[in-house]
Amino acid sequence: MLTVIVPASSANIGSGFDSFGVALSLYNKYQLLGLLPAKRYDIDAVGEGGKGLASPESNLLIRSYEAAMKRFDVPLVGLKIRSYNAIPLARGLGSSASAVVGGVMLANVIGKINLPKEKLLPIMVELEGHPDNVVPSCIGGFVISSWDDKDVKFVQLPPFREKVKVVVAVPDVTVDTKQAREVLPRDVSLQDAVFNLSRAALFAASWMTGKLENLPWAMEDKLHQPYRAKLFPGGEEILERVKSAPGCLGAAISGSGPSVLAFVRGNPTRTAKEMCSVFTEKGLRSRFFVLDVDQ
Ligand code: HSE
Repeated sequence: MLTVIVPASSANIGSGFDSFGVALSLYNKYQLLGLLPAKRYDIDAVGEGGKGLASPESNLLIRSYEAAMKRFDVPLVGLKIRSYNAIPLARGLGSSASAVVGGVMLANVIGKINLPKEKLLPIMVELEGHPDNVVPSCIGGFVISSWDDKDVKFVQLPPFREKVKVVVAVPDVTVDTKQAREVLPRDVSLQDAVFNLSRAALFAASWMTGKLENLPWAMEDKLHQPYRAKLFPGGEEILERVKSAPGCLGAAISGSGPSVLAFVRGNPTRTAKEMCSVFTEKGLRSRFFVLDVDQ
């Protein structure tokens, strides 16, 4: 039996808008239970989203599977799938990227396309529209990617040199990525561009050299978070609040939100509770995950 396991991901990490992304130790599992005649799909989803998931025709896993079969000229076969979903939906943790990666990887095996993962990245990025979730979800680790609408270049950073946990606070509210992209300015000032560029470069160099004390500074951003923080209660306060939590190595809105991610050296639960308390003060329920980078 074929099971494709795909990790959650957090994109942007503050300064690296549409470029930085990290795979996290939280997984969706897509299990192939059998093959069906072409165009017939039977999907049984359990976990996050459960039965509320899109019908087979608009399901992203299926759309991505079909797109890959077509791209590589393989005749379609229908699928009976059981999907175990642990990644919260529409919370900025890469649930759609996981479906895209899952669908393309299923096609790779079922259609005997048999390409190495790296060769499948362009179609995955095309389906998702930006590289920073699908690339880490597909290859794992912390990845810096660059895409030009056709090709994708990427570098996977080495694992942390010391014990660092990834805390993710997930409020009980959803943010639509399309809408969260629409609130961003079309043009930015040179000053803001330099602000982010210098921090993103510092982030990569600091990670590589183990200078983790630079991360809170290196994760600062002026290109997207100031606009998106207004899209969910607590968004405008949480980054400042969590930054001063003991052991916190920087925090950022995860993807387009509303989840918030923090790298933590020390006691992750304490930071997680501090993050969730911001949502509680706004009358919002939330939960948290203490995760590792999926390498
Ligand atoms: N880089 C994308 C964005 C990630 O911020 O819109 C979406 O998860």
